[in-house]
Amino acid sequence: MFRDPDTLVGLGVGTTKIAVIVAERDPRVPESAQIIGIGAAPSQGIRKGLIVDLEQAVRSVRNAVRDAENMVGFKLTEALISFNAPEVESVMTSGMVSLGRAPRPVAVDDVERVIEAAQSELAIPANRVSLHTIPVRYSIDGNFGIENPMGMTGMRLEMELQTVTVPMPHVHNVINCVEKAGIRVEGLVIKPLASALGALTDEEMRVGVISLSIGGGTTGLTFYREGRPLKVGIIPIGGDHITNDLASILRLPLNRAEEVKKRLFTENREEAVVTDLKGTPDRSIDPNVALDVIGCRLEELFVEHVQAQIPERDPHLFPAGLVLSGGVAKTPGIGALLTDIFKMPVRVADPLDYYQMPPGRNDTSYINATGIIRYILCQERNSYSFIDSPVSQLRSGVHRIPDGGRTGYEPPRTGGSGGRGGQNVRNMIERIKESLKELF
Ligand SMILES: Nc1ncnc2c1ncn2[C@@H]1O[C@H](COP(=O)(O)OP(=O)(O)O)[C@@H](O)[C@H]1O
Ligand SMILES: [Mg+2]
Repeated sequence: MFRDPDTLVGLGVGTTKIAVIVAERDPRVPESAQIIGIGAAPSQGIRKGLIVDLEQAVRSVRNAVRDAENMVGFKLTEALISFNAPEVESVMTSGMVSLGRAPRPVAVDDVERVIEAAQSELAIPANRVSLHTIPVRYSIDGNFGIENPMGMTGMRLEMELQTVTVPMPHVHNVINCVEKAGIRVEGLVIKPLASALGALTDEEMRVGVISLSIGGGTTGLTFYREGRPLKVGIIPIGGDHITNDLASILRLPLNRAEEVKKRLFTENREEAVVTDLKGTPDRSIDPNVALDVIGCRLEELFVEHVQAQIPERDPHLFPAGLVLSGGVAKTPGIGALLTDIFKMPVRVADPLDYYQMPPGRNDTSYINATGIIRYILCQERNSYSFIDSPVSQLRSGVHRIPDGGRTGYEPPRTGGSGGRGGQNVRNMIERIKESLKELF
């Protein structure tokens, strides 16, 4: 049996593991899906979020897909992919258009013009591609907080637009890797954004919050306010750095250091670190030294890298504080360390659909996978919540429209297949028009 239109598939390419999530739409409940399986396999050939050995990475993806297929009992053929690109850039631009000398209601063409005006502010370098174009907020006559400007009366329409760009070779490598593993790439989402969607509640997104997802090779950041993502970032530091530090300072092989790191907190400290680690001659490791090493690396990550990315360094913009996810979020005491450094509330996220997730695959390190499903559902509900460049364009690198630098647009997936090559600005405009009409 093959994927049917009511099945949603997400594939998260991580440094430590490839996760494949399969969900089934419930036709009776709009905008919801039930998770029916999560497959996973260790990542090989991926470092600091980047593919460094294509063949190994392809094999890892294939293994994860197979694992998911065994769980759900049918073959998977396509998926929406989340991936890291440490050189991701997210840039905010604004646009303004006049509605005329007398106040009048905003029409579809005005929204189109204002998106174009905001996009024209941005010049994307030739070696980068625009992955996401995200309308962040609209204002009419200076009043912000307008969720949908259609039909609202005024004289001046303004908008803020976030464009997320990544180096083109990274995208090519990811698409290549997944397709070589036999999975058609239906779309791409930058990993920190998917993690945020998996971790955050609507309420947190509305009041202002920072999602921090810490995996093996990278830490993803997403800033949310008024329900919209303001910025995404990726820091090429993660749990593997802690393991490396432990290995070199305690003079242990990497696999032992990894084991020490995880056992240090789960068992009685004295016992966890002192005795035999399978075949190693008994050797005493001072747990306090190990704890110091972990603490130092985390502090470096938070103080030097995360704090530096907080816009205006103003925690009041994010009253819901920090929400943690990813494997490193399982480190006991990490919440307290963060609260101490940032003086903000900190929460470790459980997958929002926790109860639907299979045992052993239901912890915070699978948040990213659940976020891919939420991303698909968000896009289906509102086709201009995240305006993505078509995969065909990302693949070929033909992404930039010389005048205006406008991004292409891919209509929301209806679940079926079908070629989408050649989608361009026109389609994006048509699609936005359609969805605005629906809303109006
Ligand atoms: N219980 C734990 N305590 C501390 N670190 C952990 C624990 N479990 C996993 N990790 C770390 O989390 C990282 C993997 O994160 P994860 O989100 O699962 O993968 P990915 O790198 O693929 O995003 C690894 O560095 C691993 O050592
Ligand atoms: Mg992760």
